[in-house]
Amino acid sequence: MPEVRMEGVEIVKKPERGDVHYNSENEGQKIIMQVENLSKTYFQGKIPVHALRCACITVKRGEFLAIMGPSGSGKSTLLALIGTLEKATDGKIILDGTDLTSVPEKLLPSVRREKIGFIFQHYNLIPTLTALENVELSMRFSRVPKKEREERARSLLEELGLGDRLNHKPSELSGGEQQRVSIARALANKPALILADEPTGEVDSKTRDSIVQIFKKLSEKGQTILVVTHDPEVAKECSRVLRITDGVIKDY
Ligand SMILES: Nc1ncnc2c1ncn2[C@@H]1O[C@H](COP(=O)(O)OP(=O)(O)OP(=O)(O)O)[C@@H](O)[C@H]1O
Ligand SMILES: [Mg+2]
Repeated sequence: MPEVRMEGVEIVKKPERGDVHYNSENEGQKIIMQVENLSKTYFQGKIPVHALRCACITVKRGEFLAIMGPSGSGKSTLLALIGTLEKATDGKIILDGTDLTSVPEKLLPSVRREKIGFIFQHYNLIPTLTALENVELSMRFSRVPKKEREERARSLLEELGLGDRLNHKPSELSGGEQQRVSIARALANKPALILADEPTGEVDSKTRDSIVQIFKKLSEKGQTILVVTHDPEVAKECSRVLRITDGVIKDY
């Protein structure tokens, strides 16, 4: 694979895009993300809030990782930093060969689009677009031709059991179906990492279990997934649980 270089972006090792179809024993041991001494301090006026303190996390490709901790402990902050939605006060995040903390502001949207898929508690689908269009839209800014985008969106939705819901708008879908559309959307650009903040917070327990099984299957195929959850039933299906208290992470 030719080395991809973007001006101003530090390439730590040769990048290989995450791929859900990928599955090989050796490669499964490959480290996909290294978080080093990551800290975030917010200021409320002059008072510092240490939302995250010196976090160090090593994640292997294909891990299905839960992040648990009380309200206000720093879970969403960690996701926002890894997702490059916020800037770290200190530390490094090396994802799939790129140091995210050194990416210049103007390149962040494209790095984010290529490397990270987001899944939110409230799905965040565009209400005026169909399921197919919502998934296809996420690929619009990548250099994939339209026909290919449509085919990939269709096949992802079919894989997630939504083959007969392609032309439904979000308001015409159940909560679980909407969340599956948002999973398809997160997978569309073959991200190195999926970040999910309370993805089962709004659905009943049966739907929750089916969403967790989808994540499990994806991780078995080599997709790396980080899930913030309060739900022990979700955490027990994960390959590892990170616990966070007052901004300090413990790895179990
Ligand atoms: N923009 C901000 N400015 C100041 N303080 C903030 C800001 N965002 C978060 N915080 C504080 O940082 C700490 C961590 O917040 P965070 O949202 O990461 O918690 P959380 O673990 O996701 O909680 P929850 O389970 O309630 O979603 C909290 O004390 C919060 O009040
Ligand atoms: Mg939160």
